[in-house]
Amino acid sequence: MNTLKINEELFIGSGGHQATYIHPLDATKCIKIPHTKDDGDVKKEMRYRRMCSAKLENSRLVTKFFGTIETNLGLGYVFERVLDYDGKTSLDMKKFLPKTKPDEKTLQKIWTTLLNFKSDFLRENIAIVDTDIENFMVQEHAPETYRVRIVDNIGTPVLIPLVYWFDFAAAWKAKRYWNRIVAWLAENYPEVIPPQLVAQLTET
Ligand SMILES: Nc1ncnc2c1ncn2[C@@H]1O[C@H](COP(=O)(O)OP(=O)(O)O)[C@@H](O)[C@H]1O
Ligand SMILES: [Mg+2]
Repeated sequence: MNTLKINEELFIGSGGHQATYIHPLDATKCIKIPHTKDDGDVKKEMRYRRMCSAKLENSRLVTKFFGTIETNLGLGYVFERVLDYDGKTSLDMKKFLPKTKPDEKTLQKIWTTLLNFKSDFLRENIAIVDTDIENFMVQEHAPETYRVRIVDNIGTPVLIPLVYWFDFAAAWKAKRYWNRIVAWLAENYPEVIPPQLVAQLTET
């Protein structure tokens, strides 16, 4: 059988579970190769994508999934690649957020991006597993126009996932996770996320 050849020049990034590469035949897609076969996180994400496919089909936040493909590095999972308008891979939120106080214009840009993230997240009620901001990418889809995308760690580890079946459970859980993200950002980026923004971001 024909396997797709991926070389190291296509490498984008890697976390604890998988390595991500630009798709060699289609730069608008990326291919993720799990570090181990039967990775629990990958399975969890695939279960969520299967069970909530209708909801995820219309998601602004979650990247599209295009199925699996055999590669020289093993079985690959093909996703939409998060790209900026100029064709560059978008920054993840950790790289996007400065550690020290930036100029007023940059600050406004960050605040608007986070407030829009809030409204998308609480409208779509995506199930996430933790608040690791490296799994959020900030897509500059038009010049100076930013949108957060979720690329990893979706789903839930529980055996009987109420959040997949009931909108109210998904909304309740999403609100809790959202407020955890806000609290984490406030603690780790105090120069960028001051109390008045925390108040606006927190969902009561
Ligand atoms: N859809 C995507 N488009 C562009 N880059 C991505 C995409 N998904 C992941 N990446 C990059 O690859 C890295 C690792 O992918 P990720 O899915 O987070 O793997 P892990 O499960 O190991 O954390 C991410 O931190 C990000 O930089
Ligand atoms: Mg990750």
